[in-house]
Amino acid sequence: MIFVTGGAGFIGSNFVLDWLAANDEPVVNLDKLTYAGNLANLASLQNDAKHIFEQVDICDAHRMQALFEAYRPSAVVHFAAESHVDRSILGPAEFIRTNINGTFTLLEAARSYWMTLSDGEKAAFRFLHVSTDEVYGSLGSSDLPFTETTAYAPNSPYAASKAASDHLVRSYHHTYGFPTLTTNCSNNYGPLHFPEKLIPLTITNALAGKPLPIYGDGQQIRDWLFVSDHCAAIRCVLDKGRVGETYNIGGHNEKANLDVVRTLCDILDELVPKEQGLYVEQIAFVTDRPGHDRHYAIDAGKIERELGWRPAETFESGIRKTVQWYLDHQAWVADIQSGKYLAWMERNYGQRDAHDEVGATT
Ligand code: NAD
Ligand code: DAU
Repeated sequence: MIFVTGGAGFIGSNFVLDWLAANDEPVVNLDKLTYAGNLANLASLQNDAKHIFEQVDICDAHRMQALFEAYRPSAVVHFAAESHVDRSILGPAEFIRTNINGTFTLLEAARSYWMTLSDGEKAAFRFLHVSTDEVYGSLGSSDLPFTETTAYAPNSPYAASKAASDHLVRSYHHTYGFPTLTTNCSNNYGPLHFPEKLIPLTITNALAGKPLPIYGDGQQIRDWLFVSDHCAAIRCVLDKGRVGETYNIGGHNEKANLDVVRTLCDILDELVPKEQGLYVEQIAFVTDRPGHDRHYAIDAGKIERELGWRPAETFESGIRKTVQWYLDHQAWVADIQSGKYLAWMERNYGQRDAHDEVGATT
């Protein structure tokens, strides 16, 4: 039995589906179901006894401790987080609470449970912390891609909260010998991606005839990885990673945002042509994100050399699969856009921004 936190979110739900397709070991999915958590992602597991769902806030120390005692997991894969950079700029508090305090609370509950295990169980236990390339900050024009030894320089409140959680995880290994693993991954894309993020927002806005917002000049570069390749990398690190180590994960797919949006438009022109005109005509340049990082790129050499992981998808194959998935799952998008999550945002953040109205532009 393993614990997966944040297993109703984008990457977490892909991971749960992926894990249960490949493993007999059950998953206990611990998720608060914030605006980003969606049990519809896991509808295919409704009658699968190997998927146990617990609605819980990772900041709730008592419940977390009780859950460890009740289920006695052999590993934790920690995805739960506030994940959207724009929201962290608008309201950082929830990012500090979940990403830093929540990770601390989870670490404490996991460590005190781990202390009760036999020597053999202790040695086999793993705590895998899922983090991001954003902790390294922005590359300059002559810099090499991020390696595991690149200095941390987080630039957004989101990135700073993830950096803080990485440091906490590191300290639990160094101080207590707690068996941790950390992964720092580049931008994911693929099925079940919440339509506030660039790729799903572009697809859903294009189909709805709305503007496609490009921040600033659109020349910011991200290194894109298809989500199932990230899930496979996490399984690989969990299985073979050296305790206490960190592993960078990336797809060797550095693309400027404007090129990504143009590619999506071209694929849509081919698959669902408009009666008049082209999708690129919907592109709208809007005010840049404050403090916007210019360039991310991952050197994934360590995980490739040491653990033998390599991405299966190219950007060209993955982006086509992604567009097709959104065309085939318009009811999933419509449900998210129905407004249920807007009420959650207002209750919890007390504010809205343009992107709370999925599909709107600034
Ligand atoms: P997401 O926003 O889609 O999902 C986050 C999940 O965490 C949701 O199901 C939400 O309900 C849950 N959650 C949030 N706060 C919680 C709390 N206090 N207690 C319990 N559950 C809570 O995020 P994602 O894009 O799937 O990212 C998952 C993880 O991967 C995050 O840690 C993120 O930092 C990291 N990551 C994401 C990317 C990416 O491109 N999306 C890249 C690298 C790393
Ligand atoms: O690099 C990994 C990170 O990737 C993860 O840690 C984050 O959780 C994840 O959200 C993602 O962060 P980004 O900020 O890179 O993702 P986003 O999809 O929001 O933006 C991608 C790029 O596109 C970024 O440079 C901002 C730009 N953008 C985004 C939106 C939503 C636009 O130009 N227009 C938009 O409407």
